[in-house]
Amino acid sequence: MIDIHSHLLPELDDGSRSVAQSVLVLQQFAEQGVTDVVLTPHVTAWELAEDKEDALERREVAFQLLTREAPRVPRLHLGFEIMLNHPLPPEILKDRAFSLAGSRYYLVEFFMSVSENDATELLESLSNEHAVPLVAHAERYKHCHLRAVSKWRDMGAKIQVDATTLGRSTQRGKYARQLLGAGVVDVVAADNHGDDRTLTNAVRFLADNGSADIATLLAERNTRAVIEDTDMVSVPAVPFREGVWDKIKNILGT
Ligand SMILES: [Fe+2]
Repeated sequence: MIDIHSHLLPELDDGSRSVAQSVLVLQQFAEQGVTDVVLTPHVTAWELAEDKEDALERREVAFQLLTREAPRVPRLHLGFEIMLNHPLPPEILKDRAFSLAGSRYYLVEFFMSVSENDATELLESLSNEHAVPLVAHAERYKHCHLRAVSKWRDMGAKIQVDATTLGRSTQRGKYARQLLGAGVVDVVAADNHGDDRTLTNAVRFLADNGSADIATLLAERNTRAVIEDTDMVSVPAVPFREGVWDKIKNILGT
């Protein structure tokens, strides 16, 4: 498995607080079969507009600290999770210093209350022939439902859901399952913040639903496309077994 979204660079954001904490998580990832991890500290589009070199320098310092102590497996790659609170300055896309593992894929997020129109416009400004936005935890945005996510994919964006959310009985969990059930999710990722969130949560959940093959596409095939800078494959809809009440709500459109 390959995890393309994590906050394990120590003391850089709201993720891991120390090298030791990150090393523990990486050791656990290795035991679970994770071969590669992309380190994606938070940065805002506004910060990048102000001083993009500062973000790169701070990331490099934390990366050097971590690599001195990190286990040999999983391999570590660099990236960012970019908060689109401001249109991304075009020069950010000129080289791939801010993408995932130097690939065409840029991990982006929005404020949770972002409107469908604002999110769509921001993604439009980011998509071009050299850049593919990968929307982080698409299940979080309460005003952006299946229609919005489908539109983003039609525009060329890719969609990530959080592995741990998938099996939860929360509204976010239901929405994550709805997106997977509609076949509009491209990758799952742990979004680990120095805690126990892991890809295996999604892989086990999907295997229990008879969809182990789809789990492989989401956690291995398409995440490999990120670190190798190749095309992703489309992932079939997950045939979740719905309850009668869910079916009625879907028919009613609620
Ligand atoms: Fe994140």
